[in-house]
Amino acid sequence: MQDVCAVILAAGEGTRMRSRTAKVLHPLLGRPLVRYPVDLCLRLGIKRVLVIVSTQAAEVKGALAGLPVEFVYQGEPRGTAHAVLETETALQGFDGPLLVLAGDTPLLKEETVRQLVNTHRAARAAATLLTATVDDPTGYGRILRDRQGRLRRIVEEVEATPKEKRLIEINAGLYCFASLPLFPALKAVKRSEVKGEFFLPQVVQVLVGQKRKVHTLVAPEATEALGINTRAELAQAAALLRQRVHRRLMEAGVMLLDPQATYIDDTVSIGPDTVIYPGVVLEGTTTIGAGCVIYPHCRMRDAHLDEGVTVLDGSVIVQSEIADGCVIGPYAHLRPASRLQAKAKVGNFCEVKKAVLGAGSKVPHLAYIGDATLGARVNIGAGTITCNYDGFAKHETIIEDEVFVGSNTNLVAPVKVGKGAIIAAGSTITDSVPPDAVAFGRATQVTKEGRAAATRKKRQAMVSPPSDDD
Ligand code: UD1
Ligand code: CA
Repeated sequence: MQDVCAVILAAGEGTRMRSRTAKVLHPLLGRPLVRYPVDLCLRLGIKRVLVIVSTQAAEVKGALAGLPVEFVYQGEPRGTAHAVLETETALQGFDGPLLVLAGDTPLLKEETVRQLVNTHRAARAAATLLTATVDDPTGYGRILRDRQGRLRRIVEEVEATPKEKRLIEINAGLYCFASLPLFPALKAVKRSEVKGEFFLPQVVQVLVGQKRKVHTLVAPEATEALGINTRAELAQAAALLRQRVHRRLMEAGVMLLDPQATYIDDTVSIGPDTVIYPGVVLEGTTTIGAGCVIYPHCRMRDAHLDEGVTVLDGSVIVQSEIADGCVIGPYAHLRPASRLQAKAKVGNFCEVKKAVLGAGSKVPHLAYIGDATLGARVNIGAGTITCNYDGFAKHETIIEDEVFVGSNTNLVAPVKVGKGAIIAAGSTITDSVPPDAVAFGRATQVTKEGRAAATRKKRQAMVSPPSDDD
């Protein structure tokens, strides 16, 4: 593919999505639509990838930042033929095969594109395009063939007669052109009277009129041709793509208990023997090692779990790293920059943010640990809070190895608790605690023996007896 260039059409307004966001930027299993053809071209090792952008150029460029692509500006989106014509200057001197891909057909497979280019080369064609036979051709350009089965022209839905509309072979929107005859032919494309746009499929008619060879390849699976024009089609593509992701994961040894109820981005990797319960959502660059169990209704984004990790029901993990054998949840929230070392535990209803929990450390119940570094084998009692924010700035808490923090402790940061220290339950710790010390930071209890009866009497005199209505 070293001698092939590609043009990706991403300048359309996508009005049928009824969205402020450009169509090609709508996310599909973790990636904006436009990333699909771009990533596909990059995987194929194509020489130059030109992305056509227009009104939402800045946003599209942003979504492709850092990728080795070039941008070509289409002043005003005047149709797909006009879009390709805009690359003429950029492609001056190039005489190899030119692939044209739509920004909105994310289900195309690498193998199919490769096959299209091979067919094109073998036939020495002026153009080769992908078609598909579908159940419902609504919205697509229809393929018109002559009696010998040769492609004659393509008619767009808006211009098709009722008879043409019944044709079920459609244009998939993937083309391979010989670049030299292409540009003059594009200039000969007439503007559609119905839509006022220059339609790229019209170039077929121009090339056929010039007696040039135009070939077709029928897509091995019709679903590959699915073009996203509406939100319903986006949801349909997501369902189909999820099936592919699930199949890949299950073949690699992942147990999805109910694939239909599992939502895993294309970009996620999971090790063998990991079990995923229903309602789990895994997003972004999340990686999960082997032998983990992810219980129902957990969500992870850019999370990294090593092996044998258990995540109990309803937990959320974002941009955090979890080492071997940790246990999280139920209903735990691990916010960005949290790091759990081996066999650490963050239990019921706990929140952790920007904190390190050393190996074997436990935060089992109802706690907030933020901006903190905990050593190994630390035990944090229920209801403990790191008071990291004074209303102006964030401060750090350091808790060394084997510290025991009693329940309901407030650790007012910045504060440090030395190795092996013990903090009594209910303490408010404002000063650092040296190693092996015991710290009490609470009011001394006052107990008055035999005083209960008198207290009760006094209270009863204060409240009037309840009326019958109460
Ligand atoms: C197009 C084809 C149709 C085919 C279908 C396959 C045309 C006229 N029709 O229809 O034959 O069956 O794709 O999915 O090409 N774009 C630009 N600049 C423009 C207009 C569009 O870059 O001026 C981009 C869009 O962002 C989109 C792609 O071109 O990624 C296709 O445009 P779209 O309007 O979706 O074409 P369809 O009506 O789906
Ligand atoms: Ca489309």
